Amino acid sequence: MRTSLGIRKYGDKVLRSKNEKVKDFGPELEPLFDRMEDAMIASKGVGLAAPQVGIAKQIAIVNPEPEEKQSLIRMINPRIVRTSGETETLEEGCLSVPGIRGEVVRHSKIEVVYQDETGKEHSLTAEGMRARIIQHEIDHLNGVLFIDRLSFAKRALIKPKLKDLASGKEQ
Ligand code: CO
Repeated sequence: MRTSLGIRKYGDKVLRSKNEKVKDFGPELEPLFDRMEDAMIASKGVGLAAPQVGIAKQIAIVNPEPEEKQSLIRMINPRIVRTSGETETLEEGCLSVPGIRGEVVRHSKIEVVYQDETGKEHSLTAEGMRARIIQHEIDHLNGVLFIDRLSFAKRALIKPKLKDLASGKEQ
């Protein structure tokens, strides 16, 4: 049985850290991905970034269809290289910001370049839910949370809740 990784919550500084690019593609990456998957599945998430489990590195997983194992993508050093002109607005949440949801504007379609565990580069075009989750996770890798992208009015509304979260009053 692998030890499980705890999900870091709003208020934890690691969520705002500058995450390091992965340069060494060693055998430790695979077990790390496995543990991140366990943590994501246990929390019923559709994506997870390494800083959310306390690791300040450019590593993320996305899983737009939790029932389909093959929908899971492991990404190292992902970056968006192209975006569509159109955007979509949809409600989002985040395992690190429990109890809060809000509408976020995202690109409808993106092209992303990332590396796998061996350092091999891949290119992927994504739209819909998959594109949204990838953008959300890449935000995490830049220390950005979805709450930063909410409207000014909504941010004012959730301020007390965030304060509670940061002080550990709420789970
Ligand atoms: Co998140």
